[in-house]
Amino acid sequence: AAAEKGGYDSFMEKEINDQPDAVGQTLLGRTDAKGNLVLDELRIDESILRSVDKIVVLACGTSAYAGSVAKYAIEHWCRIPTEVELSHEFRYRDPIVNEKTLVVAISQSGETMDTLMAVRYAREQGAKVVAICNTNGSTIPRESDAVLYTHAGPEIAVASTKAFLAQITAAYLLGLYLAQLRGNKFRDEINAVLSDLNEMPAKIQQVLDNADAVKKLGRDMADAKSVLFLGRHVGFPVAMEGALKLKELAYIHAEGFAAGELKHGPIALIEEGQPVVVVLPSPRGRDSLHSKVVSNIQEIRARGAVTIVIAEEGDESVAAFSEHVIHVPQTSTLLAPLLTTVPLQIFALELASAKGYDVDQPRNLAKSVTVE
Ligand code: G6P
Repeated sequence: AAAEKGGYDSFMEKEINDQPDAVGQTLLGRTDAKGNLVLDELRIDESILRSVDKIVVLACGTSAYAGSVAKYAIEHWCRIPTEVELSHEFRYRDPIVNEKTLVVAISQSGETMDTLMAVRYAREQGAKVVAICNTNGSTIPRESDAVLYTHAGPEIAVASTKAFLAQITAAYLLGLYLAQLRGNKFRDEINAVLSDLNEMPAKIQQVLDNADAVKKLGRDMADAKSVLFLGRHVGFPVAMEGALKLKELAYIHAEGFAAGELKHGPIALIEEGQPVVVVLPSPRGRDSLHSKVVSNIQEIRARGAVTIVIAEEGDESVAAFSEHVIHVPQTSTLLAPLLTTVPLQIFALELASAKGYDVDQPRNLAKSVTVE
């Protein structure tokens, strides 16, 4: 087993460190010499893909947060209304799905029963289903119209890490492909995003190479009773995923919030010493989201929060008043989750390890849940 872990203490640590490869492999071979996206495996008639008027992303757990990131990207690039729903909620509420709906089912294992049942239901209503899956020949891809495999390699640790980054990558490719197919006016943007995507493996490696500070933070916070996570735009699902990792691995109360929602309730939770991890949008982004989240940091600091801010390289805006700042390389707004997620995974891994827990096999959880 030690050899399988590639010299790391756990499969999870190994899988976190495999992420440059997981993303690189998922991108590999999916563009032609001219830089156009070629998704041959997407065996759904192009005329059907062109006529899609709604996308519904279905998944559970970590895969559902990958779906939430996908929503921001797909709507922006394709201008197709996109919903994300937990598979087990979807099927039981009489959802509106028909021949013009494209369902994207995201599942690492391809065996999650809730997602499989949702896929069956959607196809019965006439929807086409594309699976984004990490396991060759598993049930969900077999029962879907097409599959876009993530090539993260086998994921052994129960809590998902490299599959998550690979799922987000595959979802970006799908979104860009649909935009290309539908002839959206984003040709330049598509090319720019593709070249940013190709830089991601090296940038993820940089985050891994500079992880000492976040590792120390994880160990130092091993006695925290609760940790809150704030994010906005694509940073919101990243915050949710950071909180999920901590629940799964360290068994402490953790919750992710949309930063804009803080004033509508969660700020009441802030008291002296409360650790809050904040995913700060890029200052180069649109809509002044950066300054709004900086204000949130000031609001919670004024109430005693201890803040850990994930910020873009070169962003020193909170250095003067945030206890801890972790920098990740710059990229375009929509791609940032491939970088900002990584310190949160490492934080949870270190914190749980410091508590002496088995990070590969957390209590009560299964790698794949094959019952409804
Ligand atoms: C289980 C695992 C999670 C995973 C979820 C969805 O709950 O413990 O890590 O995110 O299932 O699994 P899937 O294989 O469908 O992505």
